[in-house]
Amino acid sequence: MRVLVTGAAGFIGSTLVDALLREGAEVVGVDAFTDLYDPARKRANLADALRRPGFRLVEADLREAPLEPLLDGVTHVAHLAAVPGVRASWGTSFRAYAEHNIQATQRLLEAAQARGGALARFVAASSSSIYGTPTRFPTPEDEPPRPLSPYGVTKVATEALLLAYHASRGVPTVALRYFTVYGPRQRPDMGIHRFFEAARAGQPVTVYGDGGQTRDFTFVDDAVRATRAALTAPVTAPVYNIGGGHRVALHALLEEIASASGLPVARRHEAPQPGDPRDTAAETERARRDLDYAPRTDLREGLRRQWAWQRQQAEVTA
Ligand code: NAD
Ligand code: UGA
Repeated sequence: MRVLVTGAAGFIGSTLVDALLREGAEVVGVDAFTDLYDPARKRANLADALRRPGFRLVEADLREAPLEPLLDGVTHVAHLAAVPGVRASWGTSFRAYAEHNIQATQRLLEAAQARGGALARFVAASSSSIYGTPTRFPTPEDEPPRPLSPYGVTKVATEALLLAYHASRGVPTVALRYFTVYGPRQRPDMGIHRFFEAARAGQPVTVYGDGGQTRDFTFVDDAVRATRAALTAPVTAPVYNIGGGHRVALHALLEEIASASGLPVARRHEAPQPGDPRDTAAETERARRDLDYAPRTDLREGLRRQWAWQRQQAEVTA
């Protein structure tokens, strides 16, 4: 198995790279080290992988790099590169979302179809944010997409491209709709990362809205296990929800943050953010059936591990 992982230096991508290398796969990682957050963090994410003989890192931007050489000898693709934040996708920043999430995906699919039958699977990251305000909880995959943010729109477009290249060009595509992933290496713009940092600094956390919103938080190792399975399992559907197995309100999460860190968590409320779904909850029966997927890490254990990582990061940079 030779796997091309895009977004290989990012939060989920680097965790997938480590898991693939542990099982003996050859991995080509591609990343543009975009500055959405400090690229030094992304280099640190790959520190272990870069010591492994099975890993090759290519620093390249999928928007413009020649992609066919990248796919040379590759049997499986995990396409995770994107601009990922929900709340920052309004206004002029949409251009970057459209280029990185839609255009780059189309370029990669075009290069993938040129490989013909040599490519066994092309898995790409989609998002719970495509559902917007769904009519059913937990939400099954056949809920019509009605994203509330421009970011969600780019993920609907990603999925539509995957379907088109599957139906018309034979690329064996699968989309995974991840639900708010957390754990070691979590992006610093994401909620749990920010909440632990605020607690550590003795600052109040910023809560958007009343704190009653809910998320189906998914531990990163679970998301990675599902992604690994989707690379080789005999799939029967074009898209799978990947959720953490339970839904928690933000105010309950903050109690758990206080308990995991042993620090007080004061709250400062701000207006709800445009584009943020109120609630998310994944129906994961399809992933259980086809990918043998079941989340293994509960919120308390997952938070303990993320907090341990964030504390260690703070010591390294102190
Ligand atoms: P991340 O920002 O940590 O990782 C994305 C990586 O892609 C970054 O290292 C970035 O440098 C790279 N990249 C971006 N544009 C690129 C380009 N044009 N060429 C090459 N590399 C490029 O984000 P993440 O949280 O690990 O998210 C990974 C994927 O999962 C994204 O597609 C995101 O939309 C999706 N997703 C994430 C979550 C979550 O909770 N983290 C949930 C749902 C979906
Ligand atoms: C996350 C990822 O950032 C997206 O890349 C991904 O597409 C999405 O999950 C998904 O599931 O599809 P989000 O759910 O907004 O998006 O994740 P967080 O940033 O961790 O936010 C979780 C909740 O905390 C949201 O309700 C948000 O409004 C809230 N929040 C976040 C705050 O109240 N304060 C903050 O400082 C940050």
